[in-house]
Amino acid sequence: MRVKNITTPFFLLAFLSISVGLMSQVKPLTDSDKQKVAAFKFTNESQTRGMQQYNNNCKSCHGDPGKKNYSNLDPIPGDPASAEYQALTDGEMFFYITNGKGQLMPMFANAISESQRWDIVAYIRSFNPNYIQAEVQLASDVNLSGALRLKLDVFKEEKRVVALLTDSTDGVQKPIKSATIKLSVKRQFGNLNIGESQTNELGIAIFDFPVDIPGNEEGLLELIAFAGNESKEISVSQLAPLGLTVVPTKLLEQRSWFNINKKAPLWLIISYLSALAAVGGILLYVLLQLKKIKEMNKE
Ligand code: HEC
Repeated sequence: MRVKNITTPFFLLAFLSISVGLMSQVKPLTDSDKQKVAAFKFTNESQTRGMQQYNNNCKSCHGDPGKKNYSNLDPIPGDPASAEYQALTDGEMFFYITNGKGQLMPMFANAISESQRWDIVAYIRSFNPNYIQAEVQLASDVNLSGALRLKLDVFKEEKRVVALLTDSTDGVQKPIKSATIKLSVKRQFGNLNIGESQTNELGIAIFDFPVDIPGNEEGLLELIAFAGNESKEISVSQLAPLGLTVVPTKLLEQRSWFNINKKAPLWLIISYLSALAAVGGILLYVLLQLKKIKEMNKE
């Protein structure tokens, strides 16, 4: 009993300090966070979508942009239309929406998708007449006209797929950067989307593969990689040992649906069929009676 009395406060203290430590662990804002830009051009549509997200998630604290009617908290949340907010870079706004700020501003990394967070930035920027969005290089702007080559390398241990996109028009393989590559897995009815990734300076895009996709008996599945725009596209497919091994049930196995070796016992089949016949007979009888009523009506 005495031992417990001594150790309990220590445990409590350790627990408390760990949880306080976790709570106050704020991700630092880096330069690359600051310089981050949206991957799409802000349009009226993205602003409208952003307004809806803003009204649902932010308005309760930040009020209506431009009206300075934010909640009275300490520190004050501030008005997103204010000069202070508009002095933030797009990347900084995105960062605070994603990770939160201080003790009061919540993080939205899990509640709002990445493109919706950029929509909110677009909405906040719509209150700044001087705002000019940084140039975005859209994947569809990338020139994909040459002799394209798309190659996949599969790393089984790391569950990683590395795609290389090159253009060998003049006989030399040149990497194509900033192109979007889509990776999917062929399934029985259509393709299962794994993800999208942009090629870097070396024409390389990297995909981390989910661990729980069933493959065939050898764990193989068929990868499909695609890159393209309106004018040109390329896709490759390749078998890769990235799936879980799945042994399919054979058609003739004892408990399979279409088993023809093992049938149900005769008495079961007969009683099932006679029950079916009885129900059908009753239905037929009712229909006949209905017809009779109709004929009597006519007379
Ligand atoms: C629970 C109240 C609350 C909600 C909800 C909230 N915020 Fe905040 N926000 C704050 C507070 C308080 C601050 C100031 C934090 C600080 O400075 O320590 C802040 C700060 C910010 C900042 C940083 C401003 C700066 O000058 O550094 C941005 C950007 C921001 N909020 C945007 C949003 C957006 C967008 C949403 C909705 C997705 C949102 N906030 C939802 C309370 C909130």
